[in-house]
Amino acid sequence: MFGNPIFAEKISTALTHADLPSSPENLYQPIKYILSLAGKRIRPQLVILGADLFGCLDMDEVVPASVAIEYFHNFTLIHDDIMDKAPLRRGQATVHQKWNEDVAILSGDALLIKAYEQLAKCPAVFVPILLKAFNKVALEVCEGQQMDMDFESREDVTEEEYVNMIRLKTSVLLGGALELGAIISNASDEDRFKLYNFGVNLGIAFQLQDDILDAFGDPDTFGKQVGGDIIVNKKTILHILLKQGLDREDLELFDAVLSLPLSESNSKVEQMKMLYGKYDILQKANALKELYTQHAYASLDDINVEESRKEDLRSLADRLMYRAR
Ligand code: IPE
Ligand code: IPE
Ligand code: MG
Ligand code: MG
Ligand code: MG
Repeated sequence: MFGNPIFAEKISTALTHADLPSSPENLYQPIKYILSLAGKRIRPQLVILGADLFGCLDMDEVVPASVAIEYFHNFTLIHDDIMDKAPLRRGQATVHQKWNEDVAILSGDALLIKAYEQLAKCPAVFVPILLKAFNKVALEVCEGQQMDMDFESREDVTEEEYVNMIRLKTSVLLGGALELGAIISNASDEDRFKLYNFGVNLGIAFQLQDDILDAFGDPDTFGKQVGGDIIVNKKTILHILLKQGLDREDLELFDAVLSLPLSESNSKVEQMKMLYGKYDILQKANALKELYTQHAYASLDDINVEESRKEDLRSLADRLMYRAR
């Protein structure tokens, strides 16, 4: 389990008792399906831990915001899986595979609306400021997702562009989750910003690990298609670091591998991983992940609350970096 078990229980109860109608079945069943597949639920944990850090006493005031963030995340996953042509999510068929793309688009849209419905249930005094923070993050996620798609057909993506893309598609949501908790806990603007920065750096390290697992994860525990990023020519950190180091001969091989058709996906993944091995890409990616994790910890250290209050966040961050799924 990821995060504080007491909070995990609260989150699980709130998500399980989601009041979703039963009809039309093809609209609501996919939502119930993806939520039931659970996942790590780290973003709702971050909302609650963000509030807890600043001494929030009534966690029931924070639960709707944490549900809103998890709904939003699951909405992005349903649409992301269409865009990435992904067959598997959390060890099961993706929504667009189990139903179809039209169903996945519309049930995703409905889930986004359900996220706003939850946000509106937060303590009224905070709703305008929560909405402002949430909308900023939500739009940035769309921006990052568009860049991610645009990068598939580009071969000149720099490491800097890549980090900016993952900051938007992934990291700001982790930072934003913490920020919502801090808002409800009446944290100072300064502490709120430091906590957001902790989340953003943690999120960058988190997406680096996600890229690593996509190529090097164990198919039995990963829950997604191993090699999926290689198959669609995603500009992952592995791809970018490899491209930086290739000698001329391997550059030719690399180009040939990139243009292999879908029918040769297995060989494509195998050959690309061979190149990753030859150029120590896993070690290099892990070093970068460590670096962002250190940046994250520095932001957390800087927050003006008693050290013992930071323990849950520290241990969550530690576990995320070495996770297998
Ligand atoms: C997957 O997020 C999408 C990314 C931003 C990498 P998670 O790895 O948190 O997915 P679940 O919710 O645990 O399944
Ligand atoms: C996902 O990035 C980011 C969002 C869903 C917004 P990925 O496409 O790498 O996530 P996974 O690997 O499918 O979970
Ligand atoms: Mg994607
Ligand atoms: Mg994806
Ligand atoms: Mg991924």
